[in-house]
This record gives sequence, C-alpha cells and structure tokens, in this order.
Amino acid sequence: MTSPQISQLPEFTALKQHAEQARLWQLSQLFEKEPARCAQFSLEAAGLYADFSKNHLQRDTLTLLTAYARARKLEAQRDAMFRGDRINLTENRAVLHTLLRAPKETRLICEGQELMVLVQAVLDRIELFTARVRSGDWKGYTGKAITDVVNIGIGGSDLGPAMTCTALRPYGLQGPRMHFLSNVDGHAVQATLRELDAQTTLFIIASKSFTTQETMMNAKVARDWFLRHATTPDIAKHFVAVSTQAEAVAAFGIDTENMFPFWDWVGGRYSIWSAIGLPLAIAIGMENFRSFLAGAYAMDRHFQEAPLENNMPVLLALTGFWYREFFGTASHLIAPYHQDLQMFPAYLQQLEMESNGKQITKEGQHVSTATAPVIWGSVGTNGQHAYFQLLHQGTDRIPVDFIAALKPAHELIQQHKVLLANCFAQAEALMQGKVAEDGDPSYRRFSGNHPSTMLLMDELTPTSLGALIALYEHKTFVQGVLWDINSFDQWGVELGKVLANKILAELNGAAANHSHDSSTANLIARASAALK
Ligand code: F6P
Repeated sequence: MTSPQISQLPEFTALKQHAEQARLWQLSQLFEKEPARCAQFSLEAAGLYADFSKNHLQRDTLTLLTAYARARKLEAQRDAMFRGDRINLTENRAVLHTLLRAPKETRLICEGQELMVLVQAVLDRIELFTARVRSGDWKGYTGKAITDVVNIGIGGSDLGPAMTCTALRPYGLQGPRMHFLSNVDGHAVQATLRELDAQTTLFIIASKSFTTQETMMNAKVARDWFLRHATTPDIAKHFVAVSTQAEAVAAFGIDTENMFPFWDWVGGRYSIWSAIGLPLAIAIGMENFRSFLAGAYAMDRHFQEAPLENNMPVLLALTGFWYREFFGTASHLIAPYHQDLQMFPAYLQQLEMESNGKQITKEGQHVSTATAPVIWGSVGTNGQHAYFQLLHQGTDRIPVDFIAALKPAHELIQQHKVLLANCFAQAEALMQGKVAEDGDPSYRRFSGNHPSTMLLMDELTPTSLGALIALYEHKTFVQGVLWDINSFDQWGVELGKVLANKILAELNGAAANHSHDSSTANLIARASAALK
C-alpha cells in the first residue's frame, strides 16, 4: 500500500488553514502583543544561539508544525539514519556522516563490520600525515618542506575543504598555504600553478568516485606540470588521494599507501568530516580538526535528544518549510555577517539544493507540494549595498538567516560593533518596516513584515563552525523528511554529464549528432569553427 501524499495528511491541512490567518499577521504587532516573544522563540544548543522570534510563528503554529513532523515520523526516521539503516533508497546506502564525528567508543556494526574501527584508523593516519606536513618532516623531491597544498576536487570534494579553510583562516596561519582547484576551466588551473613551486607543493586529489571529469582533468594537468620538473617516482612525495576507489587511484599513478579512504555511506556534500577534511586538518592542525568534529557531535546529540519543540535544526527546518509551503517563498537568503564565512552560502547551496531539489517522493510518486527553495547569499554588510533593496521594497517575501559571531578574531572592536549593528539593524528593519509619516512619498515607505532568523555564536572557532554545519545538515535532513524525498542521492546531475560528453566528442571532430535542437547544433558549430 502506498502512503498518502503529504498534502493529504490532516496535519498538513491543519497547517494550511492556520496559514490563512498567519499570512495576515504583522510581525511588529506580534512583538507588541507578546513582550516575552524573544525568550519564547529562542534557544541555545551546542554553543549556538538561535532567535526565531522575527518569524511568522505563534505558539499554536509550532504545535501544528511539530504535529506535522510527528505525523511524518521524524524521530523514527532520524533514529534510522543514526543507526545506519539504508535510508538512501535509490542507491541502497546507509547515511552515516554522523559516525565520523562521534566519540571513538561509539560502536556501530553494519553487515558484520565495526565501522568505528575504520573511521579511527583513517583519523590516525590523517593525524600522522598532518603532523609531518605541518612540521616540515614530509619532504618534497629535493628535500624541501611543503609550503603549498592544492586540493583538486569539485562539489563536496571541494566546497567543504575550501569553505572551512576560509572560515578558520586565523587558525591556519601556522600551516602551509592552501589552494583549491575545482573548475575544469583551464584559466583556473593555469592561474593556480603559476604561483607554485613543484619542489614544495603537495597535491591532494579528492574525489569520492575518482571519475569526475573536472577533477581528473585538473589532476592530469597538475601531474604533467609536476613531471616537467621532476620524475615519476617523485610523484609519491607530492600527490596523495582521498577517495573510496583504490583501483582508480592506483591507475592514476598514486601509491595507495598515499590514499586516505572513505566509504560509500558518506555522501559527497556530507563528507567534510571524513578524509575529505584532510586539507582542513593540514591547515589548522589535528587538535583543531578534532574540535571541529566535536562541535558537530554536540549538535548531533542535541538533534537526537531535544524534544522537537526545542530542537534547533528541527525549528530551522520547520520554519523554512512553513514559508516554502504556505507563504509561497521561492528563495531563502543566507547572510553571514562574518567575512570568513564568505563561502558558507555556496556550501549551503550544494547541501540544501543538491539534497532537496527533488520532485519525486521516496515511493516514486510526483510530489504534491513545493520542495527546496533557491538558497543564495553573501556576506554582510556587502549585500546591503547590492540586493537588500529588493528585500525591503521588492515584491517577494524572502526569509533570511542572519549569522554572526559576537566576538571577532581581530582587535578592531569598533569595526566589529559596526558590523553587528548593521546585522541587527537589517533584521529589525526587515521586520518592523517604517510607518509612513505625513507627506512621506510612497517610494520612501517600508512595509516590513519580512521574516528572519538570527544565529549567533560567541566566536567563529573550529567547534562553533562544526556545530553550525551540523545544524544545517540536520535542517536539510528534516526538510527531506517533511517533503518525503530522498535527500541523499543526486540523479539530477547525470543528464548534463552525459550530454556534455556527446558534445565534447563533436567538438573533437566526431560527426554532428542530428538529435540536437537547432540552437545547440549552432552553438557546437560556432565553437568548433573558433577552435579549429
Ligand atoms: O556531480 C555531483 C557530484 O556527484 C556531487 O554530489 C559530488 O560532491 C561531486 O559531484 C564530486 O564527486 P566526486 O567526489 O566523486 O568527484
């Protein structure tokens, strides 16, 4: 028997009816009516503080939202993920990135295999390697220490390492310089290699599948460049791999002694906690890397143990779901007021859009509701001088997540106060708007009533960053449950890859493929003529 579409659940209908009223609420009036509103709608967990009070929520809204989550059996589905059930149905895989950050005493046996033993063995190898590279004990082919590390990967094999190394920049000042190469665009690899000395550069080829076109092409260009300076046996001192595919790694010419493995139960966009985090460990050192894992683990515990009503990832997910389903919001802005979180919106784009940008339910039916919104954003205050105009006076309602650290990692306290003042002011302005004064022309009016959530941490540290990422991972998981979709596959990326290979063959001189539309055929012809 197939389960009903989510829109047929009575708990969904109750939310729909409630939303008819909620759409009429003025946030500023809710604050006037409920003086304790901020305390009522905020909570702390794993070192993070979340204030949901500037959202279109009242107590009964949360009661209805959590009732819907319970009707979707959220707790049971969460427990199934942590337990290692094969919840990634279309790939028949478990989803166990949470095990990578659990304490080493944790026991999880899957098909007779004790997984924590594997996890700890790789962490030990990462620790050893990281210490050797950072101390200068790992030598290049001319006996010099490593000064530059280049991570070659894309998607989850790039965004996690690049985002976290950027976010924890102050912790990486003692480590080697880090570079990230992802795009297949030759301009990228050329610009990166131009800065480097082959004698002191270490390449990490990071690819779960070790077949990804962009990564393999960039890796080959890097290897060719290296071999113009050194010899094949020297590769062992300058190329390591992170992958699940030992054979492909060996075929590329990297000794599997120099391969850091991970497993098919770690999804690409959830892999920063695995050996994919090697660049981060090298940049900030193993002790800090372990703090990063511990921060995520603290959020895991909170997610598993707190009642839904006081559960930060659950509330973040329910709030986003509420707007997407019942307020018609099509996008969600991530606004970190922290320069070092500049890559966080891009990271969340992959996490949320690749996970929940789906239209087929777990039972293979077409969904009856909207699913993931577009995630976008950039750091404050820059966004204020670019697109915030649309948030305040445009015609769309766009929920915002503001993210800030109370204390900076620098001494320019007055600048930090200005940053925070702007962050808090934007949330207030979006919510309150401005009552028109007599004579105010219409173009100077602010309707307000725009929702936002404020996420604060004391400081941006390995621990708080770990907790922040885990918060959004669990938010994404919960929304997948609410929408009844599989958050852990990504079949939608396949079609473009297949067509790109066909077009590449034609650009390389194969006979024109008559199945193309006239526009695509014309584009191929123009490029072929230009590249002759
Ligand atoms: O094409 C999408 C994708 O599979 C992502 O999910 C993944 O993070 C990325 O490509 C890179 O894959 P790999 O690590 O196998 O090179």
